[in-house]
Amino acid sequence: MLLKSYKIKRLNDAAASFTHLSFIATSGTARNKQETRGENMLKTCVIGLGHIGNIHSRIYSEYEGSKLLAVCDILHHRAEAAGKRFNVPYYLDAAEMLKDMKPDIVSVTTGGYEYSSDHCHPTVQSLNAGCHVLCEKPISNDLAHAQSMVDLGKKLGLCFGINLNHRFTPAGRQAKKWQEDGRIGDLLFANMALWIGRFKDEDSEYYHLKALNPHSMDILRYFCGDVKEVQCYAMKAPGRSMWSTASVNMKFANGAVGHLTSSYDIERGHPMERCEVAGTKGRFVWEDMWREATLFERDNPVRESYVNPVFGGFESFYDTFKDRVIAFVDQVALGVKPEDIDGSGVQGLEATRVIHAAIKSLKEDNRPVRVAEVTE
Ligand SMILES: NC(=O)c1ccc[n+]([C@@H]2O[C@H](COP(=O)([O-])OP(=O)(O)OC[C@H]3O[C@@H](n4cnc5c(N)ncnc54)[C@H](O)[C@@H]3O)[C@@H](O)[C@H]2O)c1
Repeated sequence: MLLKSYKIKRLNDAAASFTHLSFIATSGTARNKQETRGENMLKTCVIGLGHIGNIHSRIYSEYEGSKLLAVCDILHHRAEAAGKRFNVPYYLDAAEMLKDMKPDIVSVTTGGYEYSSDHCHPTVQSLNAGCHVLCEKPISNDLAHAQSMVDLGKKLGLCFGINLNHRFTPAGRQAKKWQEDGRIGDLLFANMALWIGRFKDEDSEYYHLKALNPHSMDILRYFCGDVKEVQCYAMKAPGRSMWSTASVNMKFANGAVGHLTSSYDIERGHPMERCEVAGTKGRFVWEDMWREATLFERDNPVRESYVNPVFGGFESFYDTFKDRVIAFVDQVALGVKPEDIDGSGVQGLEATRVIHAAIKSLKEDNRPVRVAEVTE
């Protein structure tokens, strides 16, 4: 079977940060991975085998820099199906798998209450087993658990990343480059919109805010830094018990202002994500993760755009996972320091802290809430 291979292009001095790396899909140079497998491949395991765990497993098994050793789910039928699918041993107990397989990297792709309550335990198990961990978003629905996960990774000197895949795209990196090159100047404001159709109510009235918005808050923080204060309005769409549409105002520590519109009430076929960041020298608009990013410079009526190429570009949402998982594997392989990992546990924790502050605002008559004070 021919597989798409990926090249790491080192744009600059290597291991400092992910902004120095870009991943270029090179389907034209596809090679059979079996031929390219070498001793340097990182050994990986996946815990939690729903749809998302199967995506991580597939990426590890296809990428030439990693090898999938085994998979685990407490549900026998899920573990067995994934074991057969990827032709690896399957386990029902994570501790047993970690002991037998001694992986370098573990993906924690469990779910649970508010789509994240099951993340903490296997993350702690994997870190204590000496593994680098890539955990799905949200880091946890419980800030104390999230903090303990980050603290443990730091204490053990291991890389701990969160799957903040929405910004792992060439269009997102181009927007970041415009910012880093000084093309938008000093920050003024950011407007973010993120919506998908998820019309079934879930296990918590805060599910939409907590499960969807690690992505939007991470993207806002990626461009604008720490959020100092938030204020949130939300509504329950007709017939719903969940706060399914929300409007969040924010003030960043650097003085810029921001806004998020987020919803589970919009049909999926519509454009779903838009991030606009403006500064004293210009403004960019980044749309639908990998589709397009456009720079509008002050005093220049000519726009500059990145448009996803038809050949060799991203083909689907799956490619955001591929880009993100491969970035983690490569950063671990390059020996990037845990604190410099892109999409780190700290970044996942701080994005979630902003959401918890917004929920506090919602619960307390929509008052502005200082983010740093929120610990639960
Ligand atoms: N990054 C993204 O764009 C994106 C998109 C969708 C979902 N997600 C996230 O991915 C995660 C998984 O989503 P899903 O839809 O596959 O969830 P899921 O509930 O279908 O699957 C989770 C699996 O984990 C297993 N599990 C729970 N605790 C376990 C443990 N201790 N050991 C072994 N197995 C355990 C469960 O039995 C279940 O099979 C969620 O956290 C979700 O928020 C991310």
